[in-house]
Amino acid sequence: MSTILVVNSSPNPDGSISRALTEQFTDAWLAASPETNIAHRDVGLNPIPHVDQDMIGAYYTPPEQRSDEQNEVLELSDTIVDEAEAADIIVIGSPMHNFGVSSGLKAWIDHLARVGRTFNYTENGPVGALGGRKVFVMTARGGRYQGDSPAAHMDMQEPFLRTVLGFLGLDDVTFVHAEGVAGGTEGRDAAEAEINTIIESQIAQAA
Ligand SMILES: Cc1cc2nc3c(=O)[nH]c(=O)nc-3n(C[C@H](O)[C@H](O)[C@H](O)COP(=O)(O)O)c2cc1C
Repeated sequence: MSTILVVNSSPNPDGSISRALTEQFTDAWLAASPETNIAHRDVGLNPIPHVDQDMIGAYYTPPEQRSDEQNEVLELSDTIVDEAEAADIIVIGSPMHNFGVSSGLKAWIDHLARVGRTFNYTENGPVGALGGRKVFVMTARGGRYQGDSPAAHMDMQEPFLRTVLGFLGLDDVTFVHAEGVAGGTEGRDAAEAEINTIIESQIAQAA
């Protein structure tokens, strides 16, 4: 049975567009492939702590030298890494906040990026350890940044996510952007249609 991990990061419980898009994705996936296991991590409604000094100390202490307190400090990060490792597909709901990701999603990434677990330093530099999984990112943005938009250079969300996910070995990433949501439903409608096309092609590939 394959597992999809859904990471939602909008602080909005109601009316969130990125949440609606991740839900549309998993509903359509389940309709086509009902035996799929869906796991959830919600860092928008259940925020996780920012990285602090104790976490950094524990991250960079070799496992065999960690104190009991340091192992305790790492429990949440370990769980977040376990959840990603257990997934075949990761679906991320990402509202654009101040041109980047929401603080909840940034905190999730800071718990996920772990030397010795999700990336390793080698003779050839750092190598990500989460390869082989597909990632689908559903963004929602008030403005427009795609194509020849004059605001294209202000999009720190997709480049950041592509870079950090790629660093962890997650280089098969598909973005679906609901753009211009502050000005109408056109961008959201296009994102919804794109999700249906993605699901059809993913299910056809898996068949
Ligand atoms: C704190 C905050 C910051 C935002 N910053 C931006 C921004 O920089 N650029 C933009 O296009 N829209 C911005 N927006 C609009 C959101 O991207 C838009 O409302 C989107 O639908 C949020 O996703 P959600 O509906 O899933 O919560 C911001 C909204 C909030 C609440």
